[in-house]
Amino acid sequence: MLAMSQMTAEFAKPDNVPADLFVPGSIWGAWGGNPHEEFKQLLGGRNIVFLQEHYHAGHSSSGTWLVASAEANRQVLMNHEAFTSTGVKVFSRLLGNNLVFFPVEVDPPEHGKYRAILAPFFKPASATAMRDVLVQRVDEMLDVLIPKGGCEFVQEFAKTFPGSIFLDLVGLPRDRAPEFLGWAKTVTSASSAADKRAAMQRIGDYLMDEVKSRKETPRDDVLSHIVNGEIDGRPVTVEEATGCAVVLFLGGLDTVANQLGWTFRWLAEDQKMQDLLRAEPTRIARANEELLRYFSAVFLTRQATRDVDLAGVTIRAGDIVACALPMASRDGREFENPDVLDVDHSVRRYLSFGFGPHMCIGMYLAKLELNVVVERWLSRVPSFRVAPNYEATSSIASVISLDRLPLVWS
Ligand code: HEM
Repeated sequence: MLAMSQMTAEFAKPDNVPADLFVPGSIWGAWGGNPHEEFKQLLGGRNIVFLQEHYHAGHSSSGTWLVASAEANRQVLMNHEAFTSTGVKVFSRLLGNNLVFFPVEVDPPEHGKYRAILAPFFKPASATAMRDVLVQRVDEMLDVLIPKGGCEFVQEFAKTFPGSIFLDLVGLPRDRAPEFLGWAKTVTSASSAADKRAAMQRIGDYLMDEVKSRKETPRDDVLSHIVNGEIDGRPVTVEEATGCAVVLFLGGLDTVANQLGWTFRWLAEDQKMQDLLRAEPTRIARANEELLRYFSAVFLTRQATRDVDLAGVTIRAGDIVACALPMASRDGREFENPDVLDVDHSVRRYLSFGFGPHMCIGMYLAKLELNVVVERWLSRVPSFRVAPNYEATSSIASVISLDRLPLVWS
C-alpha cells in the first residue's frame, strides 16, 4: 500500500514540523481498493501533517504540508494573501511559465476579472443548455460499448467522455477528437512523466493554434469569446487564452473521470442500489451529491507567502500546502457518520469542489455530466457488475483515482 520504505536517510525533518506530524517516505502512488479509508487511517485524526514528499515530482524537494480537517482547509482556501495559487499547479510545472493559467492560478483581486470572462458559460442555465449534447455523446459511446457485453470502464468510458465534452464546450472541431483524446488519455494515464509532459505539450500547442486562429477570425464559440475578451480594458493575450483553455480542459478531465470511476464501481457492486436508481431515476441527482462527498478526490496546492499559523503549527514562507479535500469531506467534526454512504441523506455541505474564490466554476456542468451519464447507462445498459476476480487498486496523485474497472453486463 504505502511506500514508506522510500524514506531517504538524508531527508531532514524541517524544524518547524512537530515530530508527531511528520509522515516519512512517499504516500503518493499505488494504493489498495479503499484508499479513502486507508488514507484516513494513516492520518489518525490529525488536522494537519507534514509529508516528506510532494505529489508533483520535483515540485518540492522539501516536503509538503497536508491539510486534513475541513476547518483548516477552509482557512487555507479563503486566505489567498497567505496561501497563493500562483505557479503551484501541475500543468504550470509541465508547460512552463509563458502561459497564464487563468483563473485558477491568479490570486484575488485580479482573479475576479479573469473569472468574469468565463462566468457566462458556467451558469446553471448554460450547463442545462448542454444537456442534449451530453446525452448524445453518452449514447454514441454506449452504441459502441453495449454490443461488447462489457468494458473496462475507466479507459473505455470515464477517461474519454470528459475530453469529448471539453471539445463541445469550447467549440473545437470533432474531426480531430480521436487524436486529441489520445493525448488526453496519456496525460491522465501515462506512468512516465516524460510521456505526460510530451502529451501536455501537444495539447498546449494544439490549443494555442486554435486560439491564434480565433484571434484573427473570431467565430461564434467559447474559445473566440475568451481570446477576444478584455481585462482592465486591454485585450486578452494569446498566452492567457491558451492557458485558460488548458485549465478548462484539465479542470474537467481527471476530476470527472475519477468521479465516474468510483460511482460506477459502487453501482456495479451494489446491485440493489443499481436497480433502485434504474427504477427511480429522480433519485440519481441526490445520490450523485452524496457520491461526490463520499468519493471526494481532489488535492489542491497552495504556497505560503509568509509565515502563518494554521491548525496549531507554524507554516513557513515558501512551504507548499496540499489541501486534502477527500479528508475534509469526511471530517467527523462536520459530518455525522462521515464514512457512511447514505444516498437518501439530505445534501451535505462538502468541499469536493473546493471553497472560496476559486471554487469550481464547472460545478454545475460537472454535476450535469454525472447525472446524464448515470441516467443513460442505467436506462440503456442491462444490469452490470464487476468482472469475476476483479481486485480494485487505486492511485493517489492530484486526485484519488480507481485504476481499472472491468464491467460485464449480466
Ligand atoms: C467532479 C468534477 C469536478 C471536481 C471534483 C472539480 C473540482 C474543482 C476544485 C476542487 C477546484 C478548486 C481549485 C482551486 O481552488 O485551486 C476547481 C476549480 C475549477 N474547475 Fe473544477 N472540478 C470538476 C469539474 C470541472 C469541470 C467539468 C470544469 C469545466 C469544464 C471545471 C473547471 C474548473 C475551473 C476553470 C476551475 C478554476 C476556477 C477558479 O480558479 O476560479 N471543473 N474544480
